[in-house]
Amino acid sequence: MCEKQIRMVASPTLSPIPTVGDAVFFLLLGYYLGMANSRRDKADSYTQRAHKEGYPARSVYKLEEINTKDKIIKPGDSVLDVGAAPGSWTLYTHRMLIKGKGRIVSCDLNPLSLDPVPPTVTEITGDAFSKEIREQLTALGPYDAIISDAAPMTTGNRTVDTSRSEHLAEEVLRLAMEQLKVGGNLVIKIFQGGGEAEILKQMRMLFTKAKAFKPKASRDDSFEIFLIGMGKK
Ligand SMILES: C[S@@+](CC[C@H](N)C(=O)[O-])C[C@H]1O[C@@H](n2cnc3c(N)ncnc32)[C@H](O)[C@@H]1O
Repeated sequence: MCEKQIRMVASPTLSPIPTVGDAVFFLLLGYYLGMANSRRDKADSYTQRAHKEGYPARSVYKLEEINTKDKIIKPGDSVLDVGAAPGSWTLYTHRMLIKGKGRIVSCDLNPLSLDPVPPTVTEITGDAFSKEIREQLTALGPYDAIISDAAPMTTGNRTVDTSRSEHLAEEVLRLAMEQLKVGGNLVIKIFQGGGEAEILKQMRMLFTKAKAFKPKASRDDSFEIFLIGMGKK
């Protein structure tokens, strides 16, 4: 409900002496507007910061939080970034995690929008799970870390979206089992309600440690979470 609509609803019921109903109404109104503003401020501050720091998407701060907590990537690592476009995770990995030492294979259906593409990056455009692209990723592997922010085009139908996200997450886990070095680390994005508990259960068997994590930089209304596996067995 926009502020104009709220005013139109509110004004005919107002009497000169405020009633308990009026007080409750204004309390709820204040809460609603406060929530909406804080959500917008949070989104704006991450977007503005990304712009200022030269990243093409605000999603960079999700990887920052993940790596600050769990140190999944270090200088010298070989990293596979799945669902890499427009390129924030790739650029952050180059600048802040491998610090120019090591290499990154960045794969997406769409090209990266990084100009220039950092020297540590090999860009592969196409479906990461098609036979042809898989062979290219294999030829460049194995990897110390695989990070996936891959997401389907959302339809607005939560059942369809979560099931597509689950499919992507399963494919990433399969790829990781083939291409991650022993001791390697894995990050997979999945939409909640899309079989994340089952995938996490599998990861707990395949890694020394595995957990689910929701970064603060995720939008409040987003139902994404990240599954993190540390130390592939
Ligand atoms: C949220 S965006 C990734 C943002 C990126 N991490 C960044 O920081 O710039 C999700 C990406 O997943 C990609 N994607 C979805 N399915 C894919 C697939 N099968 N193979 C490769 N990329 C895929 C989409 O094209 C989209 O660019």
